[in-house]
Amino acid sequence: MRHLLTLADLDTDEIKEILTISSDIKKQHTEGVRPDLLKNRSLALLFEKPSLRTRVSFETAIGQLGGQSLYLGNDVGWGHREPIADFSSVLSQYADFVVCRTFGHEKIEELARYATCPVINGLTNQFHPCQTLADLLTIQEHFETLSGLKVAYLGAVGNVARSLAIGCRKMGISFALATPEEYAIEPDLLEQLKAFPANGELFTTDNPSQAIEGANIVYADVWTSMGQEEESVIRRKALAPFQINASLMERADPKAIFLHCLPAHRGEEVTSDIIDGPQSLIIKQAANRMHAQKGILTWLDRANHSS
Ligand code: CP
Ligand code: NVA
Repeated sequence: MRHLLTLADLDTDEIKEILTISSDIKKQHTEGVRPDLLKNRSLALLFEKPSLRTRVSFETAIGQLGGQSLYLGNDVGWGHREPIADFSSVLSQYADFVVCRTFGHEKIEELARYATCPVINGLTNQFHPCQTLADLLTIQEHFETLSGLKVAYLGAVGNVARSLAIGCRKMGISFALATPEEYAIEPDLLEQLKAFPANGELFTTDNPSQAIEGANIVYADVWTSMGQEEESVIRRKALAPFQINASLMERADPKAIFLHCLPAHRGEEVTSDIIDGPQSLIIKQAANRMHAQKGILTWLDRANHSS
């Protein structure tokens, strides 16, 4: 059974296939065509954290492809009403896909271990692979290529940064990461990233000006992720020099775009003039979540039915 728990689960060609399916279905969507590629399939959403984009884009994606979605709240009792093995085995009898948003990554791994349908990571503390696939779709649409570009991510390493780093490494995009030392990338992930066969460069620094130099894509995420609220004051202090503002943005390529997974905290990780300015593609990026989810669901359906 193929799941999507992290982008490390996919090789470069598989990511390309998902992007191609996503763009093809998006093109049809803009022409008013909604193919029922997942007719009568059911998608369960098991979410332990809030969501606008991930939840709604998956629900609309499966609906537009002819299937249906079920949003599961706390009352299903995941992790406390019965063993996860029973929970996962039973849920798989009803659903053709499960999208899960939770805290520790080991929880989604346990869900997938017992699932007989594909489990998709809708965000854990560690990774956010579906976000990165939509980001790659947005970058590819804008630049008409992926390889040879440079992404600069400034801020704290979190789920979005880790998945973006893996995605860039796998697709030949150079990745420059600027973080304070205390929010830097974990050494084991750094080693894993170095081992991916990629053409792009991988650069880590605590100097935001160096990282952003000549970047084609400048990327930000919130400094305080869901579940870290008690650290917000200390994070704001440590991360202040990493704010993306006009003077830092001037160091990027003049045709650079700004991306943010959203939700954003204007005045923290990015200033309003940048996120609401002409270089920002945040709304197109958010819209692409739905098109990328269609690619992910269709690809997983094919991958699991052809093997
Ligand atoms: N970017 C993202 O995953 O947004 P939500 O938290 O609203 O799903
Ligand atoms: N890093 C953020 C991403 C939200 C989509 C969080 O986990 O809250």
